[in-house]
Amino acid sequence: MVPVDFAAERAMGKGGCGIFAYVNHGVGRSQRFIVDALVTGLRRLEYRGYDSAGLSLDRVPSLKAASTGSNGHGAGHGGAGQGGSAPLVFRATGKVDALVACVESTGPTSGLAWEVELDFHAGIAHTRWATHGPPLPKNAHPHVSDSGHAFVVVHNGIITNHAPLREMLQRHGFVFESDTDTEVIPKLAKYLYDSFPPTPDNSPRLSFLQLVQLVVRELDGAYALIFKSSHYPGELVAAKRGSPLLLAIRDPAAADAATAAAAAAAGEHLQQRSNSSGGSGGAATGAADGVLATADSHDRPAMTQRPRPGKRRRADQIEFFLASDASAVIEHTKKVVVLEDDDCVHLAGGSYAVYRLQRGGPPAADGAPAPASAFLSGDGADAHGGVLLNPPATVHRVIQTLELEVEQIMRGKWDHFMAKEIHEQPDSLRQTMRGRVISPGPACPAGRIQLGGISGFVGAIRRSRRIMFIACGSSFHGCLAVRPLVEELTELPVQLELASDFLDRRCPVFRGDTCVFVSQSGETADTLRALEYAKSAGALCVGVVNAVGSAIARATDCGIHINAGAEIGVASTKAYTSQIVSLVMMALLLSEDSASKATRRAEIIAALQTLPDAVADVLRLDAQIRVLATSLVKEQSMLVFGRGWNYATALEAALKVKEVALMHSEGILAGEMKHGPLALVDASLPLLCVATSDGHLAKMESVCEQLRARGGRIILMVDDARGRLAQAAGSTPDGASRVLVVPRTVDCLQSVVNAVPLQLLAYHLTVLRGHNVDRACPRPSVLPPCLHALLRFYLTRMTMPHAEPRNLAKSVTVE
Ligand code: F6R
Repeated sequence: MVPVDFAAERAMGKGGCGIFAYVNHGVGRSQRFIVDALVTGLRRLEYRGYDSAGLSLDRVPSLKAASTGSNGHGAGHGGAGQGGSAPLVFRATGKVDALVACVESTGPTSGLAWEVELDFHAGIAHTRWATHGPPLPKNAHPHVSDSGHAFVVVHNGIITNHAPLREMLQRHGFVFESDTDTEVIPKLAKYLYDSFPPTPDNSPRLSFLQLVQLVVRELDGAYALIFKSSHYPGELVAAKRGSPLLLAIRDPAAADAATAAAAAAAGEHLQQRSNSSGGSGGAATGAADGVLATADSHDRPAMTQRPRPGKRRRADQIEFFLASDASAVIEHTKKVVVLEDDDCVHLAGGSYAVYRLQRGGPPAADGAPAPASAFLSGDGADAHGGVLLNPPATVHRVIQTLELEVEQIMRGKWDHFMAKEIHEQPDSLRQTMRGRVISPGPACPAGRIQLGGISGFVGAIRRSRRIMFIACGSSFHGCLAVRPLVEELTELPVQLELASDFLDRRCPVFRGDTCVFVSQSGETADTLRALEYAKSAGALCVGVVNAVGSAIARATDCGIHINAGAEIGVASTKAYTSQIVSLVMMALLLSEDSASKATRRAEIIAALQTLPDAVADVLRLDAQIRVLATSLVKEQSMLVFGRGWNYATALEAALKVKEVALMHSEGILAGEMKHGPLALVDASLPLLCVATSDGHLAKMESVCEQLRARGGRIILMVDDARGRLAQAAGSTPDGASRVLVVPRTVDCLQSVVNAVPLQLLAYHLTVLRGHNVDRACPRPSVLPPCLHALLRFYLTRMTMPHAEPRNLAKSVTVE
């Protein structure tokens, strides 16, 4: 099995939303099983943060709905007027548990029969983080087209043209129940569906795929969408643009690995079906391999590719999952198809097909989508009287094997993912360096770096007129930490850019530039847009990403996979330290021909080899840091000073404290201390000074001295050599009130070691202040639920930047 890391696929569309669907075909599943599968999928997505949840499934056909409509708690409603065919919809604010309670209490009276087995079924589910409209049941997904639930939709992302669509639909008599941008989607589906009266035998004129094609071409913005409909029982159609979505496939018949392998080799496995409406088999075998090969062109063999099926047949027994995140499917299957922007998947009759959608159609005068006939080909009708659209082309998407173990997405013995991931860093760093840092040996006494994903581009990068690093948040700090080394080793001008600012300025980019895009998720919208912009200017684009197969990994010319493993916690921790190491390796590779740098390179390569042990040592400070956090828990604010190699450390520490502990904190370049920040210093404000040994230490000590002269309350980070000296002298270095002594490594890697205790500090502060570490959202557990909900609502509306999980910022799908 080839390693695949899907950490990024957790980074998702706007609002921390999670999207999940489960389809069983030919596999008898009780309704309880189906609800459990949907709910478990949602639970796996909980870490993204959310404030309401919902799901939709079919009622048992023989049961008449005893009650319809919302029960006032956002509970199940079953499509009044549609008898037994309308999908049931359950929605609840709060946690998934509230949704479960809602299904349990209202399901049986709405048409759920727990023990009845359904051989074929398609269910969808969603967790929502409020953005358009407060967290209320009416705003939770799934959204519906009408009281009969002809179309039911879950959505991650944002529809930027929802206002004109809403107006147009209202003019056509649609009544909206929610404040969301999403609700236009099912209503538009119904509007378009109704413009094609059914055939005389009451079959739909449009296939579900065709209908979704029409809907999606009217949408601007970003989305991962799943459509379910009473007109197309047992089918789902999903479409993606800008928000992650993957299809996972479980073939129960292939549970035995040996049998599965034999069957795959014989082409007897689950098949991707051909485009029945005219897509060529050629298309299915062609382009997509090329597209995925972009990801594979990075130095890591990205995905296991299942042999291309020799013949096509439907699987008699099959289960499908659609999810915004691999963590929601990994316990069911490792076989996934990662969808690309403008892909659309149609699940029907035990098979799936992926199509490329074309967007945009001429609007009619009243803003309504152009009459669907405008999209028709030929005489507009097929041999059976059905209407044909120009069929979208099918594409063949490789089935990939996730190398993600269930344990990786579980907290194990840890209380929080953030703690787990901080403590995993010795291993994640080893993983980042595995096979890439080659120890000194007879053939190469100084050791060397091997990065297959950029080896063919080293000459081109070296010939660039400048190197630009472009990223957001912690990833930007990772670039900042390594900039001095890249300048030193390559002697090229190095420019750092925050992706949003780079775009705002329309920063001049030229053909001779190398632009390096650094991202944990590989999906961050600003970074992705910046990449598109730099590509259009003809720059060589290099990706440094954690998520194999992510948008940035695919769109760059070459790159390095960070290989930190799945990062589930809200705050970037292990991905940050692995980013620094990846960029250090890149700088070393770019300078491998430089004899004058050989000694320096050898020093760094040696230090890389001992870095995981140094990080393991620094993790032993955990208890001491908890004590420090206890002393800071009531503070309103903290300043963090660093310079040179540790300017990034200061910024990153402050960001972590802000992001998860919800405490104001600023990272300050120590050289700027005199130019303003000094005015803030008094005996009450904690000042954290990173003063480990490097070429800037004397200057850093002088800054500490001046802070102390103002009565500043200094918490000092020093390395073990300085710590021992101070201990021998019976004092604390620089008169600090508290001292953290960290292991020493080479200057350009010290920021990796130094980051770790500061991550721990942010973690403990968060826990001690009573916030939810993994969701970075206040968890005032002492408050009754109603006040808690109010506070959440208030925070969502009023203090969004503090209350949102980082996933929002990381993966916002619009700029
Ligand atoms: C902070 C954090 C964010 C991300 C930023 C970019 O802990 O995680 O600042 O670093 O949103 O995300 P990526 O790296 O996925 O592009």
